[in-house]
Amino acid sequence: MSRLLSCLILLGAFTYACQRDWAALEKRIKHQHKIYNRHAKRAEVTYPPTLSEVESILVNSFDNKSISDWSYYYTHGDHLGSHNKTMADWTAAKWKDAGFDSWIEEFPIWITYPEHSSLTLLRPDGTKHGANLVEDVLKEDDTSSYPNLIPAYHGMSASGNVTAQYIYVGRGTRADFQVLKDANISLTGKIALANYGGIYRGTKVKNAQDNGMAGCVIYTDPQDDGEITEANGYKAYPNGPARNPSSIQRGSVRFSSLYSGDPTTVGYASYEGGPRNDVKPYNPSIPSIPLSMKDALPLLQALEGQGVTAKEANRTGWKGGFGNITYDSGPAPGALVNINHLMKGYIAPVWDVVGVINGTSEDEVVVVGNHRDAWVIGGAADPNSGSAILIEMAYAFGKLLKKGWKPKRTIILASWDAEEFGLQGSTEWVETHLPWLQSHAVAYLNMDVGVSGPRTSFSGSGEIQSFVIDQLKKIIFPDGAWGNEFDTMYDMWYNVSKGEISPLGSGSDYASFYQNGIGCIDFGSDGGRKDPIYHYHSNYDSYHWMSTFADPGFKLHAAMGQALSLILYHIADDPLLPWDLPNAATVLSSYLSELNETVIESDFPDLDISPIEDAIAEFTKQAEHLNSVAKTAQAFSDSVALQVVNAKFRDFSRGYASVGGLPGRVTFKNVISAPGIDNGYGADVFPAVTDSINAGNEDAAVEWVEKSAKAVLRAAEILRYGS
Ligand SMILES: *[C@@H]1O[C@H](CO)[C@@H](O)[C@H](O)[C@H]1NC(C)=O
Ligand SMILES: *[C@@H]1O[C@H](CO)[C@@H](O)[C@H](O)[C@H]1NC(C)=O
Ligand SMILES: *[C@@H]1O[C@H](CO)[C@@H](O)[C@H](O)[C@H]1NC(C)=O
Ligand SMILES: *[C@@H]1O[C@H](CO)[C@@H](O)[C@H](O)[C@H]1NC(C)=O
Ligand SMILES: *[C@@H]1O[C@H](CO)[C@@H](O)[C@H](O)[C@H]1NC(C)=O
Ligand SMILES: *[C@@H]1O[C@H](CO)[C@@H](O)[C@H](O)[C@H]1NC(C)=O
Ligand SMILES: *[C@@H]1O[C@H](CO)[C@@H](O)[C@H](O)[C@H]1NC(C)=O
Ligand SMILES: *[C@@H]1O[C@H](CO)[C@@H](O)[C@H](O)[C@H]1NC(C)=O
Ligand SMILES: *[C@@H]1O[C@H](CO)[C@@H](O)[C@H](O)[C@H]1NC(C)=O
Ligand SMILES: [Zn+2]
Repeated sequence: MSRLLSCLILLGAFTYACQRDWAALEKRIKHQHKIYNRHAKRAEVTYPPTLSEVESILVNSFDNKSISDWSYYYTHGDHLGSHNKTMADWTAAKWKDAGFDSWIEEFPIWITYPEHSSLTLLRPDGTKHGANLVEDVLKEDDTSSYPNLIPAYHGMSASGNVTAQYIYVGRGTRADFQVLKDANISLTGKIALANYGGIYRGTKVKNAQDNGMAGCVIYTDPQDDGEITEANGYKAYPNGPARNPSSIQRGSVRFSSLYSGDPTTVGYASYEGGPRNDVKPYNPSIPSIPLSMKDALPLLQALEGQGVTAKEANRTGWKGGFGNITYDSGPAPGALVNINHLMKGYIAPVWDVVGVINGTSEDEVVVVGNHRDAWVIGGAADPNSGSAILIEMAYAFGKLLKKGWKPKRTIILASWDAEEFGLQGSTEWVETHLPWLQSHAVAYLNMDVGVSGPRTSFSGSGEIQSFVIDQLKKIIFPDGAWGNEFDTMYDMWYNVSKGEISPLGSGSDYASFYQNGIGCIDFGSDGGRKDPIYHYHSNYDSYHWMSTFADPGFKLHAAMGQALSLILYHIADDPLLPWDLPNAATVLSSYLSELNETVIESDFPDLDISPIEDAIAEFTKQAEHLNSVAKTAQAFSDSVALQVVNAKFRDFSRGYASVGGLPGRVTFKNVISAPGIDNGYGADVFPAVTDSINAGNEDAAVEWVEKSAKAVLRAAEILRYGS
């Protein structure tokens, strides 16, 4: 079975901060293969790769021992957003030591923390089961027993003390709720029990709330774990690669497709004494609680034989992975759940670390960032694999600085705080520096989960894709438990992706850059259905897990850092920005063909999308012309022409950002892709048109076809060279 097909069935195995929506990816591959796609064919790779002198210095600078040390530091202290300024200072000190001018920027943002949480099952026979909302202490894993463990909770959840019947709602998609409504099951005032698979957790809570339910419980189901389950004979962590049954997935349940950043300053920067809006529209109004696999069992059991059966529901991901559970919906007479959840919401300072090497050209800047905050004491994969890699990369560039090197473009390193609550640190920084970023930033490179498994993954803007793929060909892929059949990182990436690259939505710190028209990539690696399961947002995303199961020897960390360094180096220093504009045009065409399919299957199959088609034709013409100008300028080292071309390469994607934002969501502006409004992880292409269609508003759809076409034309106009 191919990985992509298996992913359709096993969505949850791939849930991490920068979520990939595999169903959407599969659909996209189907669409894109109808048109020419330049990455879809496997390229020949020279092995071993040949590197330039500077590339060799960077690549050879990565040392698994020091990466392991950085990882150890980051994963041995509470560093939830706003909890650890010492860690920010330490990061700044490391970057300074490496040669970057470094400082801290503080923002006051609104966050939540639980004062009390409990969940009790009250069975019809009068017996009770109190859920353990803490994970087991494991003697092998030192950070599972810290006295200041962070409670397992849903960031931005509401408070509430609710006792009610509960109903199993599968994955908690709109269609899942529809099944229950069609069966005349009354949802009002009851508690939803959803599994974690498929869509973003906050959307499950929103769907429950929109159906009049009074609370929501989301649990981890074994179906999310691919082949690596105890039922298949694997031992559970810490004795083996299967899931520890007590692990709990924390996470924010804010309405992430409506906004990014501080929910009290939506669309503008947060500062001391500044204006603040009401958080109500942006966060759930009902309480929700995350639950372990182990503690979900008795709740599922108590519903047996009641309500809609899994077979009747006939929904993807409804029947989970417990072989002996029927996954009936309930409600069951007399079976109640009490959720008692008291959340504090308050303003607290968070600390972004910024490190800079000035370039020789003052008006071009490349930003590379990773968040530092984690839901748990560890956070070895999410996000501190990326944080450890960034420090090692700073030292690699420090070696060049010591040789007297100065980049052409300014390099900014960023260590964001409070990503987990909702991209707060990065969003407030972007909002604070927006006009400057819009006139200076050539690209933003994001690394969130650098390593949670061996499979290389990236998504990114059309113009940057081909260049990133070329850098992957230069990196030797390490041998390990994942095998030795991949010569280069390109070979691994191609094997996983089949050459397809998803559009960017939200889900990590690139969002505010991308939504303001700045070209971005999101780069990382994760596990597949045969790799050790990733205890996402759990106490067991720890140094012990990372060094024992996910990346013993920290070789994947080193390889990811090597690749990121080459990507950063070339963007910072190549005389001509290494963009592929014809590919940007191809990507727009593939997005259009996806929109076309959405339109054809919608209630408005006659919607005329030809204005976008015409705009893309114009974009393609200008892209090809500028591409040939660029090639000539490069061949003749024509510095005046190169400067003009570089400025156009930097600026054209600003055209995609619609000034007032997409309908109903001011922080999302990019007309070519944004998070799906009902999904929250995966991206929709031409999202305002898609949203209007889904809302049944044909006039708005027509209006947004025009606006989207104009945005593409604005980008084409910036690319225009000569008359
Ligand atoms: C901050 O993080 C460091 C490194 O993990 C840790 O040693 C320290 O105890 C943490 N500080 C707090 C207040 O938890
Ligand atoms: C929560 O509600 C239950 C009854 O539904 C009540 O017995 C209990 O005292 C309440 N707890 C709090 C803290 O209000
Ligand atoms: C649900 O209720 C409606 C109206 O009362 C009825 O027509 C329909 O047959 C019921 N459906 C089921 C599945 O019981
Ligand atoms: C289940 O749903 C699929 C479509 O999602 C449909 O093709 C199939 O016939 C349904 N099966 C049953 C038993 O209703
Ligand atoms: C169902 O299976 C789980 C493990 O998959 C086990 O812990 C549980 O005891 C079983 N329950 C019953 C009723 O057999
Ligand atoms: C970098 O450039 C900025 C802006 O021109 C300047 O303020 C700063 O002092 C420079 N930093 C260093 C270390 O040269
Ligand atoms: C690549 O992936 C396919 C499945 O899609 C698998 O059969 C193959 O063995 C993998 N490895 C290599 C080196 O191609
Ligand atoms: C670094 O790699 C070497 C060689 O593979 C290995 O022996 C060593 O244990 C690794 N160090 C760490 C800290 O993982
Ligand atoms: C949309 O799809 C239809 C049917 O496949 C095709 O005839 C038409 O050319 C497509 N239009 C665009 C703009 O891709
Ligand atoms: Zn993350």
